[in-house]
Amino acid sequence: MSHESSPSPQTSLPKDRELVLKVIPMPADVNANGDIFGGWVMAQVDLAGAVLPARYVRGRMATVAVNQFIFKQPVKVGDILSFFAHISRVGNTSITVQVEVYAERFSAQGQYVKVTEASLTYVAIDAQGKPRPIPREGLSLPGTGS
Ligand SMILES: CC(C)(COP(=O)(O)OP(=O)(O)OC[C@H]1O[C@@H](n2cnc3c(N)ncnc32)[C@H](O)[C@@H]1OP(=O)(O)O)[C@@H](O)C(=O)NCCC(=O)NCCS
Repeated sequence: MSHESSPSPQTSLPKDRELVLKVIPMPADVNANGDIFGGWVMAQVDLAGAVLPARYVRGRMATVAVNQFIFKQPVKVGDILSFFAHISRVGNTSITVQVEVYAERFSAQGQYVKVTEASLTYVAIDAQGKPRPIPREGLSLPGTGS
């Protein structure tokens, strides 16, 4: 059930978020409706969400939680998808990231529809797969006051 069935496309993308991924879904990624399979979108969001934490974690990490995932609008074959991210929380061993996905429709380049938004948490792990503290030195981390 959608609360935003016909959003007006916007002509600009977020300026306070970092572009972490662009990708175009292919026909192999469709579901039975002919739209892009939600699991494919989730996989791309997981990859995109890991980009900013990787800068801080500096080593192995794992996705521990998908806190929220909203499919606001369908994704179509040939859409140019832009994934924007920002870090919303840095904990002792985990980092939470917000990801927003915008589609430029195949026949409407330069206009953007927000198709997905999600919140994911990644944990820094050691060689044994156990949580380890996120290195703090020399970095400005959101939510830490440093
Ligand atoms: C990630 C993993 C190492 C965490 O181990 P754990 O023993 O649960 O770790 P902890 O309970 O000490 O929690 C570690 C951090 O994760 C956070 N966390 C744990 N569960 C969480 C959840 N459900 N939602 C959000 N954050 C969570 C904790 O708050 C903690 O963060 P902090 O140190 O910044 O406060 C372990 O759960 C794991 O290996 N999971 C599988 C990961 C994986 O395979 N991911 C890919 C899935 S396809």
